[in-house]
Amino acid sequence: MTEHRIGDVTIRPFDAERDAERVKVIVGEIWGGGDDALIEKEFGVIGGRPWCEWLSQSVLSYLQADEARSFVAEQNGDVIGFCSYVIDEARSRGTIGYNGVAQNHQGLGIGSTMLDFVLSGIRAEGMEYVGVIVADNEEHLPARRNYEKHGFRRLTGYQYMVRKV
Ligand SMILES: CC(C)(COP(=O)(O)OP(=O)(O)OC[C@H]1O[C@@H](n2cnc3c(N)ncnc32)[C@H](O)[C@@H]1OP(=O)(O)O)[C@@H](O)C(=O)NCCC(=O)NCCS
Repeated sequence: MTEHRIGDVTIRPFDAERDAERVKVIVGEIWGGGDDALIEKEFGVIGGRPWCEWLSQSVLSYLQADEARSFVAEQNGDVIGFCSYVIDEARSRGTIGYNGVAQNHQGLGIGSTMLDFVLSGIRAEGMEYVGVIVADNEEHLPARRNYEKHGFRRLTGYQYMVRKV
């Protein structure tokens, strides 16, 4: 899939040169409940860099990986969200990757629109199943609700455990 328009929102392929800086800013706004932020909260700044730099590095390397299908949502020329997935042909399974909506554009249906877009991409690639891993903390409640609203159900939980070596 290349480009998709819903009202005044366009979903188009992620382009690192054009979009990386904006995606970094969005990540810093929205992911205070992610593992990098939580580890920093627990132990202090890691490697001299704030959590948002570590996380945006992970997000950008995922979005730029050869196998990833990565997109941004744009409104009036501004990138306001991003979404991504990978395909496992042998298992007939798509896996939803990093996705997020800029803080002041949340709650307006963008995340839902992006998820519909990702699901139709996975369907169009002939997959039978789709999965996603999402944390069980309060900060990820909107994400869990969004997946549930789109028919996902909980299969199992994972615990991220940590200690100082
Ligand atoms: C998850 C996220 C992408 C949703 O984006 P959004 O544009 O705000 O979502 P939408 O407005 O399209 O809402 C879609 C559904 O999500 C759920 N939702 C959104 N915000 C919510 C909130 N504050 N509380 C509870 N549920 C919420 C609802 O089910 C909503 O559907 P409804 O409005 O019909 O009830 C956004 O909250 C985000 O960027 N979160 C931080 C990053 C993240 O967790 N990414 C997913 C990682 S797996």
